[in-house]
Amino acid sequence: MARLVLFTDNAQDLAAGFPGAAQVEMKSFPDGESYIRIPEACRGKEVVLLHRCYPSPNGNLIRLFLVLDAIHAQSPKSLRVFVPYLPYARMDKSVKPGEAISADTVCALLRQLGCTELITIDCHFIKSGAGIHERAGLRIRNFTAADALLAQLGKKAPGALVISPDQGASYMAKGGVSMSKVRGEYGEMGGATYRKVAELKADFNAKGKDIIIIDDMISTGSTMVKAVKVLKGAGAKKVFCAAAHGLFLNDALGKLVEAGVEEVICTSSIPSPVSRVGAAALVKEAI
Ligand code: R5P
Repeated sequence: MARLVLFTDNAQDLAAGFPGAAQVEMKSFPDGESYIRIPEACRGKEVVLLHRCYPSPNGNLIRLFLVLDAIHAQSPKSLRVFVPYLPYARMDKSVKPGEAISADTVCALLRQLGCTELITIDCHFIKSGAGIHERAGLRIRNFTAADALLAQLGKKAPGALVISPDQGASYMAKGGVSMSKVRGEYGEMGGATYRKVAELKADFNAKGKDIIIIDDMISTGSTMVKAVKVLKGAGAKKVFCAAAHGLFLNDALGKLVEAGVEEVICTSSIPSPVSRVGAAALVKEAI
């Protein structure tokens, strides 16, 4: 059965290891709407689409929906999608009545548009590492960057204590300890809404230790910056940060450096100056 790898303009680097991969034609109309054309016939083929949904998650999700629908209309045998960082994965439950559970909406739409499997990395709502999962009818094959990230930092800080800033990412710390994080009220940052970190405690002895903090993502950096400060305040020697996805909003990287972090590393799920682990290499066996 023929396999066809397709990629969009923001996933060219992800397609580099797949000779013969074809780029989806994508343009913008003057009003900002997207024009999409699938350059290859898909009927009966095992199609794999490589696409990033970040930055501009809303626009890139709509583009993904249009591409999927155009492929699905040609009746491929299967239609798998690699999105390294899945947007809206943190909106997986409602905290206040009436809030949208957007993770379900995104997954349900992907399924309805013909996606037979979503391949992704350290998806926030999965919280358990590599494996096959299901959400809103969508089959999800999740990979974790934890081993690759820890292998890199392990060379710089052999024997470091590996911790996660909260329970949700404890699977990434491979049995290491977690800090206890309490989220607070919604706040504003750069005109956008985010939930503040009310409290972050380290109930373990950090004094004199090298510590690696690992998390699924660094967004505003509130969690990591607070974690670094708490650990430094508790006498930690060197503190390193690793995350699968580095969004680094509002100068989060600068704030981490100011807080005294030794080094920060992420994958290339969202390309940044600290992308040290290739996202495509992590999932290669699935494509
Ligand atoms: C939360 O549960 C996640 O695992 C991350 O800790 C969090 O989303 C990071 O966001 P921020 O960088 O804005 O604190």
